[in-house]
Amino acid sequence: MKKILITGGAGFIGSHVVRLFVNKYADYQVYNLDKLTYAGNLENLTDVEQKSNYHFVLGDITNESFVFELFQKEQFDGVIHLAAESHVDRSITDPNEFVVTNVLGTVNLLNAARTLWKGKEEGKRFYHISTDEVYGTLGEEGMFTEETSYDPHSPYSASKASSDHFVRAYGDTYGLPVIISNCSNNYGPNQFPEKLIPLFINNIRYNKPLPVYGKGVNVRDWLYVEDHAAAIDVIYHNGPNGETFNIGGHNEWKNIDLIRVLCKVMDDKLGRETGTSEKLITYVTDRAGHDLRYAIDSSKLQRELGWKPSLQFEEGIEKTVEWYLSNQKWLDGVTSGNYQKYYEKMYGSR
Ligand code: NAD
Ligand code: DAU
Repeated sequence: MKKILITGGAGFIGSHVVRLFVNKYADYQVYNLDKLTYAGNLENLTDVEQKSNYHFVLGDITNESFVFELFQKEQFDGVIHLAAESHVDRSITDPNEFVVTNVLGTVNLLNAARTLWKGKEEGKRFYHISTDEVYGTLGEEGMFTEETSYDPHSPYSASKASSDHFVRAYGDTYGLPVIISNCSNNYGPNQFPEKLIPLFINNIRYNKPLPVYGKGVNVRDWLYVEDHAAAIDVIYHNGPNGETFNIGGHNEWKNIDLIRVLCKVMDDKLGRETGTSEKLITYVTDRAGHDLRYAIDSSKLQRELGWKPSLQFEEGIEKTVEWYLSNQKWLDGVTSGNYQKYYEKMYGSR
């Protein structure tokens, strides 16, 4: 019987990781520690909440004594750390929150693990979930490998880069059994509609403008969220201590091209004439420090641990749109209240 702590399990990616671990490993006790910020939502986990190997802990990773006492009480065998402030635009308006949660929160977890696992590191694992944004931006050519130097440009990516450095430093200094993965853009069910794909799905539902930053030429490398969760499973169980793995789907899209595909799928599913949603495209002021292109080389993960993405993008985007349209109550729930204030601050009242 193993006890695993998953932080940020009520968020987008975390909820898919929790579901996978609870369903796949009946002999694990899975603890989901989440503060339930605006991005955390227990409705993401209604299908597993009654399972006897699932436990929810409401709490804040920035609270040092709380984190330490939880580790002391539960004696975890492993940690999969996803809790974070995750939205680049919010990091531009409120960077401090990102330093506190992403850097200090991570260090609190590292301190608790190193203290309680001291002399008992065998079989333990501290797995830190990070992003390809730590590598900065690419030009027209090339891909991020595990050897690419860090060069973050947003307060979000700077805070994630800092947390990655702390994780590696704790491995080197204290012999903590750490492992890190850096993944590209995820999409799929349960993503909070501040990120491109669910934001645009929600706007198309209400015939609201689709705010494309700059000229729409930035490129992102998209991975279906369940494929990220599957990679996390493989890395958690089979990746050697001290290693880094890049995760990505070889699926690069220029924003404007992806948005056109999304508009077409939405028109089909909503029974609207093709071209209706594209008319909502509105070019707006570019994001400050906007990275031009991300592309992940995940060949190390594929070669060494045998992972590969299961879905082609065309299938993934169809599944994603279908999920949001079949779960409009979920969308309405998360876009009521404070979401409207956020939206007005970011995009004006249009
Ligand atoms: P998310 O914003 O959807 O979820 C974050 C979760 O963390 C929420 O449930 C929130 O309540 C929780 N949380 C925030 N602050 C907390 C605190 N102080 N204490 C406890 N819980 C707290 O994020 P996501 O998109 O699911 O990303 C999860 C992780 O994966 C992050 O570390 C992110 O950097 C990384 N990542 C995300 C992507 C992506 O495309 N979304 C890609 C690569 C890596
Ligand atoms: O690359 C991994 C990262 O992907 C994760 O670490 C982050 O947590 C996640 O938020 C995501 O960051 P991005 O900034 O790439 O994702 P976002 O969905 O915010 O934006 C995707 C692209 O779309 C980006 O080039 C900006 C653009 N965009 C975004 C929004 C919200 C627009 O043009 N208009 C918008 O309204």
